Amino acid sequence: MHEHDDYPVPGRMERRAVDPRESVRAGRLWWDGAADAYQADHGDFLGDVDFVWCPEGLTEADIGLLGDLDALRERRVLEVGGGAGQCGRWLRARGVREVVSFDLSFRQLQHARRIDEDSGTRLPTVQADVQRLPFSDAAFDVVFSSFGAFPFVPSADDALAESARVLRPGGLLVFSVTHPVRWSFPDDPTEHGFTVHQSYFDRRAYVEEDDHGNAIYVEHHRTVGDWVRGIAGAGLVLRDLTEPEWPEGHDRVWGGWGPVRGRMIPGTAIFSAVKP
Ligand SMILES: C[S@@+](CC[C@H](N)C(=O)[O-])C[C@H]1O[C@@H](n2cnc3c(N)ncnc32)[C@H](O)[C@@H]1O
Repeated sequence: MHEHDDYPVPGRMERRAVDPRESVRAGRLWWDGAADAYQADHGDFLGDVDFVWCPEGLTEADIGLLGDLDALRERRVLEVGGGAGQCGRWLRARGVREVVSFDLSFRQLQHARRIDEDSGTRLPTVQADVQRLPFSDAAFDVVFSSFGAFPFVPSADDALAESARVLRPGGLLVFSVTHPVRWSFPDDPTEHGFTVHQSYFDRRAYVEEDDHGNAIYVEHHRTVGDWVRGIAGAGLVLRDLTEPEWPEGHDRVWGGWGPVRGRMIPGTAIFSAVKP
């Protein structure tokens, strides 16, 4: 699952139910332990001041899912699970005045400070869990996430409800996650990764454990229908589901994402929803 030797090493991997507290604890510890290796592996691809939605390399400059940049400059924007805040920093550099990024992992936020200094573009950040946000109701016009937080939380419903709560009426939520169909396939971007080996309907989490059976990395699976119901349940209206296609000439492999499978099946789903 992870490319670099410096990631926390699991004793074993399995699909199983995970207690919510065990899941959040694993999330914080794993990202604190893995942040240095993650930024070393993916920092160049993400760019210090760039907004990449997914391993397919689709950028916000390409697709404009958050809407027109001129209008966005006057909006209050929240980045969910922003890691080192590359996306939020890109918005700041393009003149969006109010952008805040939050992340569960303190080490990821330390990388945000490092990149602030290197790039000269400062991004305000907060340490927080998406399931309990420290922001008031209707505080933001736009809430977005590029693979941050949503794939890692035991309750997508809580995360979506919190995102909806901090949006003003008329506000926009856009977030990218692993495409649900990918969960049926092994985490292998080569020809060997074309065999369906587990049920799409199996909602048990992917768990890496230490030698004592404690979860050290957890990712949660939802079907497309689960995401749609979660969005509707949070009082939002689904506007679009973007499934980025693998671009010609893009050869970079990221875990299970790569050109061989990317040309055949989707790797990323980006949900766009509005608060009525
Ligand atoms: C794959 S990274 C995405 C971050 C950034 N957009 C990027 O592309 O590097 C996932 C991020 O989600 C954060 N995260 C995981 N669980 C979270 C939670 N419950 N609340 C907030 N952030 C969380 C992790 O700490 C990590 O920085």
